[in-house]
Amino acid sequence: MPITTCIFDAYGTLFDVGAAARQAASEPEFAAIKDDWMVLAEHWRQKQLSYSWLRAVVGAHTDFWEVTRNGLDWALEKTGHDDDPALRERLLALYWELQAYPEVPQMLATLKQGGMNTAILSNGSPDMLEGAVSSAGIGEFLDTSLSVQSVGIFKPDARVYDLVGAHFGCAKNEVLFVSSNGWDAAAATGYGFTTAWVNRAVDPVDRLPWTPVHTLNDLTDIPKLAGL
Ligand code: LAC
Repeated sequence: MPITTCIFDAYGTLFDVGAAARQAASEPEFAAIKDDWMVLAEHWRQKQLSYSWLRAVVGAHTDFWEVTRNGLDWALEKTGHDDDPALRERLLALYWELQAYPEVPQMLATLKQGGMNTAILSNGSPDMLEGAVSSAGIGEFLDTSLSVQSVGIFKPDARVYDLVGAHFGCAKNEVLFVSSNGWDAAAATGYGFTTAWVNRAVDPVDRLPWTPVHTLNDLTDIPKLAGL
């Protein structure tokens, strides 16, 4: 089946999750993190994701904003920056206005001009996604943002991937699913989507029962993979 529907993970895929710590580190008020903002950002992201998986396993779902705050609190304590409430507030505020990667607007515009369905499928809560989409100025190129909130469990539970077919009425093999998270692209392959893993960091492939169908360095070639 030809691809009709291009679905994007949000954080790390369309939006640069490192941008919050990088931006804060460049501000004189938060010079304390100028040397270790990358370590802080990495701990923040890893804990945010770990907490989402653990909550999914034990059936203790919560809003993604809560696991994002919990992950940040762990990361701030781990890096010795938990004595600065203004830094915490600044990092959390920046998470609502993350930059999109530079190639995102043109790539999405090409998909829409080619008649593709386009959407975000994310752990993010609807209000977080709305904030990120509007601050990146890409709302006009997306049909919708699908949030796990409506199914009450985080990725990679299959009920999350089911949201795509339920919304667009398309078959699994019409979907190109794009994620920078190797585990997300792998699980979506197992689910039955054609997948593209955006491996900007040149990471090793995740050792899981499934592997992404395509691997890219950035999002530029997504329209080509979708057959445009
Ligand atoms: C998301 C996270 C997993 O947007 O990046 O769902």
